[in-house]
Amino acid sequence: MSNEPSRPGAVEAPGRWLRWPDGGGPRIAYGADYNPEQWLRHVWDDDVRAMRDAGVNIVSLAIFSWARIEPAEGVYDFAWLDDVMDLLHRNGIAVDLATATASPPPWLSTRHPEILPVDRTGATLWPGGRQHWRPTSPVFREHALRLVRAMAGRYASHPALAAWHVNNELGCHNVYDFSDDAARAFRDWLRARYGTVDGLNAAWGTAFWAQRYGDFDQVLPPRQAASYPNPTQQLDFKRFSSDALRDYLSAEREILRAATPDVPVTTNFMVMGETAGMNYADWASEVDFVSNDHYMLPGPQGQDELSFSANLTGNLAGGRPWYLMEHSTSAVNWQPVNLAKRDGELARDSLTHVAHGADAVCFFQWRQSAAGAEKYHSAMVPHAGEASEVFRSASGLGRTLAGLARIAGTPRRPARAAILFDWESWWASELDSHPTSRLRYRQEALDWYSAFLALGIRADVRPAAAPLSGYDLVVAPILHLVPAALAHRLREYVAGGGHLVTTYFSGIVDENDHVWLGGYPGALRDLLGIRVEEFGPLLDGDSVVLDTGATGTLWTDRIDVTDPAVEVLATYKSGEYTGRPAVTRRPTGAGSASYVSTRLGPAGLPPLLAKLAEAAGVRSELPEPLRGRVELAVRGDHWFLVNRTDEPIELTGAGGQPLLGGDLLPPRGVAIRTSATPSLRGDDLP
Ligand code: GLA
Ligand code: GLA
Repeated sequence: MSNEPSRPGAVEAPGRWLRWPDGGGPRIAYGADYNPEQWLRHVWDDDVRAMRDAGVNIVSLAIFSWARIEPAEGVYDFAWLDDVMDLLHRNGIAVDLATATASPPPWLSTRHPEILPVDRTGATLWPGGRQHWRPTSPVFREHALRLVRAMAGRYASHPALAAWHVNNELGCHNVYDFSDDAARAFRDWLRARYGTVDGLNAAWGTAFWAQRYGDFDQVLPPRQAASYPNPTQQLDFKRFSSDALRDYLSAEREILRAATPDVPVTTNFMVMGETAGMNYADWASEVDFVSNDHYMLPGPQGQDELSFSANLTGNLAGGRPWYLMEHSTSAVNWQPVNLAKRDGELARDSLTHVAHGADAVCFFQWRQSAAGAEKYHSAMVPHAGEASEVFRSASGLGRTLAGLARIAGTPRRPARAAILFDWESWWASELDSHPTSRLRYRQEALDWYSAFLALGIRADVRPAAAPLSGYDLVVAPILHLVPAALAHRLREYVAGGGHLVTTYFSGIVDENDHVWLGGYPGALRDLLGIRVEEFGPLLDGDSVVLDTGATGTLWTDRIDVTDPAVEVLATYKSGEYTGRPAVTRRPTGAGSASYVSTRLGPAGLPPLLAKLAEAAGVRSELPEPLRGRVELAVRGDHWFLVNRTDEPIELTGAGGQPLLGGDLLPPRGVAIRTSATPSLRGDDLP
């Protein structure tokens, strides 16, 4: 079975947008999750007044309201929600209305404990937190969909309704459920994928360790086993688990679409950090517009990671605008140490999302909770109240966004370079029983992204199934799982003059996680003109030196060049493979295929990438002094310049008409230039 998407080309959202209640013109949506049920009625009046002061024009409502809306089975209390909806509408604030199914109420889990997820060891995940429901539970679905129907019926014609918000962060806590419901649904999924149990046996390689199945009924999720569970079983369970939630999303969506065909439906993705469970390239076409939640991660690449996530989200949205559903005004509550944002970061983080195509900037949440697990999570109105730097900054951002209305609806301008991002390679490359357990797929992709930023070259982070045409340079880090069809697409890309770069542990397995034989990197061996007989992973703390002066960690390969046309761009100068190639490039007519066999990291990649980009004819569009210090992102004719440093930066020479900011870009500041002059518009623009 091919790993190519079952619906070719269906990697993008259809591109509908908010239905503004006032029918007015384009604007950037601005607001937050609003949880009025945590406050007394008189606070709500204060809320809407302060929302207007802050420039809020939309809120997400009812996300965790199930127990309040349906206090007992089939008994609904909508009066309070009607009141909030009306109040918001009277104040000109639109509503992204949640279906309220994210956190089941105690009466439901008490009466039906069979909705509770089960972990790999068989332990039940009990109520008391949130999202304690099995994605495949028919009982949960019956109750949740009844609530969705009730919500849709009640609010279908409410004038405040701008969009539907399915559940919340599907899979945040419950993507992997090993219950009996999951086992049944997994078997159905496998029957549909393989048809026969022989097909499953072949795909899973069950000749190994006497795992041969005589019937689908013998198959289980990869529960805690005595030894390493079958890797293809693990991979298929990841695919299944993502599909099960996607299926649940479409079940809610169908009810909403039937009730309100003109109201768009979305759900908030979590394109951020190590959240790997949901294959969003496969989900994007299920929503009317893409929404994402993003939280800053600590560490030196935090800002790059934000940009990477925003960039990927923009590409999942097909370049069209998307909705930043959540980020934070300041600290979160769920990291080991939760840092407050520094001056300027609230606006910079928001505007970086806008730079990558967000037409909505929202926070979790409006008013900081006084009780509950998230009481130390920042909000637009902090515990200190409106007399606070956070509220002043949030209000300042509201004014800034109001001034950027003309940007709304403007598509992202594609770059000439791309980084391929592939959930299946992410899942497969990090399975157990591999040459190293230290490999991190997303980190390698992020390192390349940081290298592009360091060179001032824009690169689009693209799902692997999206078309490659139009890109002169495509970097496919750790493209581990390469079905024949993908190998074919990459060969065609290079044959058509494209420049492909890939790295260690790429091209190793097919869609069933079976090794492509005959030497690594199997599926890409001929394209790259190299052959590897054995991997050379490195111990923690070990490194190798390359003749370019770069340092490699994590991985090395014992490379033999098999095509005399291959150029060796770097050679190992230390370690077991001293004197052998470390980085190779095979020119093929107008194109090329390059291979990087070790982890060079964000510091080591830029000089190499500079060479590879130059050979591909891809140059920075920024004036030289700005490269590396400023991130550039482009929407239509609007050029966003994001200060990546803590120093002020002179923008003289950057060209264009200022839409935001002047000639001095403050530390952590963002400037926008429109209709840029040739100094910002290299002739290498698409
Ligand atoms: C997620 C959830 C929110 C909130 C935030 C806190 O994004 O969707 O309800 O819990 O995390 O960061
Ligand atoms: C043990 C087992 C073998 C094999 C090896 C792998 O020796 O008996 O079947 O799993 O470990 O190291």
